[in-house]
Amino acid sequence: MKSSKVQQIDNSLYDSIIAGYRGKPGDLLSVLEDIQTATPHSYLTEPAIRYVAEKMKVPLSRIYSVITFYSFFNLNPQGDHTVTVCRGTACHTRGSRALLADIMIKLGLNEEETGGETSYTTDDMRFTVRTVACFGQCALAPVIAVDGVIFSHMTSEKLEAIIKKLSSAKKPVRRRNP
Ligand code: FES
Repeated sequence: MKSSKVQQIDNSLYDSIIAGYRGKPGDLLSVLEDIQTATPHSYLTEPAIRYVAEKMKVPLSRIYSVITFYSFFNLNPQGDHTVTVCRGTACHTRGSRALLADIMIKLGLNEEETGGETSYTTDDMRFTVRTVACFGQCALAPVIAVDGVIFSHMTSEKLEAIIKKLSSAKKPVRRRNP
C-alpha cells in the first residue's frame, strides 16, 4: 500500500507549528498548510488531523470542511511531481482529454481502476496526475501545470518531453498545487 511507504512525523513538530500560529488570524489554515508541507509526500494524515483538532480545540468536522474546500490540501500521499491537467470546456475542446489519456498511459496509471477520482499517483510515488476544473487561463488552452508552473498550448509531444525530463530529475522542491 502506498501509505505504508510514507514516513510519519512526530507530534513535537505539530506542537511547534501550532504554537507558532497561536492567536493569529487564519491559524487553522496556516497550521494545516505547514503540517502538510512538512509531511513527506505532502498530505495530511488522519493522526495529524486528529492531533490538530484536539490541540486547537476545533471540531474534526470543521477541519475536514477546510481540507476539502481548498484543493491545495491532500488527504493522500502525493508523488514527487504533480502534473495537473485542466478539464474545463476550453481545454477540453482543444484536446485536454487526449493529454490526460496520454499522461496516464505514459505513467502506467489506469483511470478506470481508480474509479473516476481526480488524483492518481504512481506506485513508485514519483508522479501524481490531477485534474482541475479551470485554471482561469482559457485563452491559452489546453493548459497544464507541472509542480505549480503553468504550461500553455500544451501538446502530447511537449508533455512527453516534460515527463521525460522530470523522470530523470532529482526530487523537486515542493510547491503548492494549483
Ligand atoms: S478551461 Fe482550461 S484554463 Fe479554463
